[in-house]
Amino acid sequence: MLIKRRSLLAASTLAAAAPRNAWGQRRSSGVFTHGVASGDPLPDGVVIWTRFTGETAGWEVAEDEAFSHIVQSGQARSSFANDYCVKVDVRGLAPGRRYFYRFLSASDASVIGRTRTAPAGAVEQLRIALFSCSNMPFGYFHAYGHAAARDDIDLVLHVGDYIYETPRGAYPSAAEAVPGRVIDPVNETASLSDYYQRYASYHTDANLLELRRTKPISSVWDDHELVNNAWRNGSPNHNARYEGDYQTRIAAAAKAYFDWMPIRRPGALQLYRHLDWGDLARIVLIDARYIGRDEQIDYRTTLAPQLAQGGAEARAAADAFRRTVLGDPARTMLGAAQEQWFAQTLAASKQRGQTWQIVAQQIVVGDQFAPAETTRLFSESLSSGSRQWFTSGVEMGALGLAWNTDAWAGYPAARQRFLDACTQHANNAIVLGGDSHNCWVNNLAAPGGGRLAALEFATGSVTSPGFERSLTAAGAGEREALFRAANPHLAWCDLTNRGYTALRFTRGGCETDWIAFDSVRTPQAPAPAVTRISAAASASGGPGAWAL
Ligand SMILES: [Fe+2]
Repeated sequence: MLIKRRSLLAASTLAAAAPRNAWGQRRSSGVFTHGVASGDPLPDGVVIWTRFTGETAGWEVAEDEAFSHIVQSGQARSSFANDYCVKVDVRGLAPGRRYFYRFLSASDASVIGRTRTAPAGAVEQLRIALFSCSNMPFGYFHAYGHAAARDDIDLVLHVGDYIYETPRGAYPSAAEAVPGRVIDPVNETASLSDYYQRYASYHTDANLLELRRTKPISSVWDDHELVNNAWRNGSPNHNARYEGDYQTRIAAAAKAYFDWMPIRRPGALQLYRHLDWGDLARIVLIDARYIGRDEQIDYRTTLAPQLAQGGAEARAAADAFRRTVLGDPARTMLGAAQEQWFAQTLAASKQRGQTWQIVAQQIVVGDQFAPAETTRLFSESLSSGSRQWFTSGVEMGALGLAWNTDAWAGYPAARQRFLDACTQHANNAIVLGGDSHNCWVNNLAAPGGGRLAALEFATGSVTSPGFERSLTAAGAGEREALFRAANPHLAWCDLTNRGYTALRFTRGGCETDWIAFDSVRTPQAPAPAVTRISAAASASGGPGAWAL
């Protein structure tokens, strides 16, 4: 329970003293069960969130923590239909400043949240903390706690796998799960009430609650908020016989997500939207997971039979496959409507003279070729499934095929259109991503070569295991060196640690800090290691490539 007796008393005293709270008499009793949160900041507003088991709660936004200068207030109803989550899109605020907010009932007060509106006009900097893949039973959310304690973050971006839908004991296994990190329900989440319960159990984590309380958040879902490797019309992990209609499940997952996250909902299933940071940057949040995505192609079923012949014939089959099947221009990742919106949103940003176009999305964009040496690094206890997955990755790499067909590499024509849009319509495009559990900095060449289309910063996971779990037979830095040698566009990677990325954008450049924890299995956070990587902005040619 998060209600602090101290703030409860303080709040009721203040409420009694503040004459402008005309709604005071009509507030119902009830409790604030999961803290407060804020998100999707605009120059004149921000979304504030709480979960309240009564009917009506008052809310206040103030310039000071003592709430002596309340600038906006009102009341909000909570309902069973939204899992008692309350969201208010507060407007009428001033740009680029800090605010405090809270919710009040007749008998209770929420904790006091802190937030920030987006600046307007001439802006010096934008400081982002970027997260992905926070699987609760795999460990402690040290990354969240570390970022929550900082004062130099304007906006938190979570690019997906904020929760995992898997049943208890599946991912991680019961043996791998960290004691005390328990998720509800026991089963895989499939119904609306399942997803609600999963969010409620994740939001017992003190680090997550503190991050939500202290920083505005913008987020996009990846697959695990919905179901593993989801696409527009299905998922390999969806079983209609037991889990019902796929679209009904997606609608439930999306509703639970929008109810629990302090963000705007552009449409019932529409996630893509943008935020502006004055003349400095536009943050473009897209849905590369569900809304327009075609089904993933599985090499093992579509190509493996032809590869069995080996030699030149296998290579010819792989080339034909890449051109006609994988590279089919009709295959889409974003869908036509979102692709068009994406290009227009970039172009409008360029027209406004914003230096940076920051694309917050789910998955890795740059190719990932698995080095041949990968199989030498296998852990002895590696499951046969993982062994097969890595082995097939190495075989595909030898034929010039990138390995993970769930990432952008599995949709090369769509990726080309995406990078074309960055090249043509952005000043300096930065692509943020996650999903892989490992950290990657990729120089994404513009189609046709020459300048960069974009620089990619794909962050590692908060807790979900990366390559260090499977490729254990490697010396320090060996995994990273092998992957860099096999991927010339890969400027830097960390295939070993958990953590997050802090990014600072200025007119002239972008500085990124990769905060790495070597373990997330103990409640006490170890001191993190920090690697700094910087890139320069250019007025005409896209961001500068980064190299060691
Ligand atoms: Fe993940």
